[in-house]
Amino acid sequence: MESGMPLTGGQRALIRESWRRVSSSPEQHGLVLFTRLFDLDPDLLPLFQYNCKQFASPQECLSAPEFLDHIRKVMLVIDAAVSHLENLSCLEEYLCNLGKKHQAVGVKTESFSTVGESLLYMLEKCLGTAFSPEVQEAWSKLYSAVVKAMQRGWDTHPEGD
Ligand code: HEM
Repeated sequence: MESGMPLTGGQRALIRESWRRVSSSPEQHGLVLFTRLFDLDPDLLPLFQYNCKQFASPQECLSAPEFLDHIRKVMLVIDAAVSHLENLSCLEEYLCNLGKKHQAVGVKTESFSTVGESLLYMLEKCLGTAFSPEVQEAWSKLYSAVVKAMQRGWDTHPEGD
């Protein structure tokens, strides 16, 4: 997976260690991430519709079982990335397809920067003083590699596959 400078061994260790703390309660931390996301960009709310039903408020969305499933799915993708730090390219095809699915539901690639900001916010809340500038840099690098792979799904034409 191309993403500028590859992660160093030290950065991979920082990511694994910090993720261990998050992944002990993924749903709880995922909720922190998505609560922050809706604070930063409430316009994302209408993108989450289940059976064509629109949520009236972020609070309603954040407590819906289907949305909690999405939170679990997001955390699983991050977990997969953390498990494949040495070989992120094996996730390339999956992430490209995931990007296509998000384009189909109306997500704009710019929104992934807001998700990245919300991810760093959640990590800071979870890790406290252990959230050092080095940890932040390592996570930013990993997240941009994941997003870059997802964005390839936008670059390809759906009729071409
Ligand atoms: C702006 C941010 C995002 C929006 C608005 C969004 C929206 C959606 C929607 C509407 C669906 C389909 C319904 C569902 O499964 O709940 C979906 C599916 C999914 N999303 Fe997201 N999503 C966002 C970010 C992400 C991110 C950052 C990841 C992972 C890194 C992710 C992972 C997934 C996965 C794994 C699925 C299931 C795909 C499948 O069915 O194969 N999403 N997303």
